[in-house]
Amino acid sequence: MYSEKLIEKFKNPKFVGKIKDADAVGEEGNFKCGDVMKIYLKIKDEKIKDIKFETYGCVAAIASSEMMCELVNGKTLDEAYQMSHKEIVKALGEMPAVKVHCSILGTRALRNAIDEFRKK
Ligand code: FES
Repeated sequence: MYSEKLIEKFKNPKFVGKIKDADAVGEEGNFKCGDVMKIYLKIKDEKIKDIKFETYGCVAAIASSEMMCELVNGKTLDEAYQMSHKEIVKALGEMPAVKVHCSILGTRALRNAIDEFRKK
């Protein structure tokens, strides 16, 4: 079962969208289900100043990406990079075990965006 909080994050996401002049963009896909996640970042002084996501994904992927954005917004790049999907699942409350892998899409896309930014 999904928690009430997870359903709420899925129904009313605040971080969905695109940042046109993003400083970094990261993408990650799950080859098993075909879902794709894209993360956009605005970065200033090594901190995340704005974050948005676009996804072609399931309820758990959308809710966990929304939760992840909420948790890492304003954090340093190092703190954001270390964010684990377990922290996101914990913050969301209940999530079926078979859906936990969906929460990994967002953290991987976020790390890809940070890697891209650091390569520049
Ligand atoms: Fe693909 Fe959830 S089923 S991310």
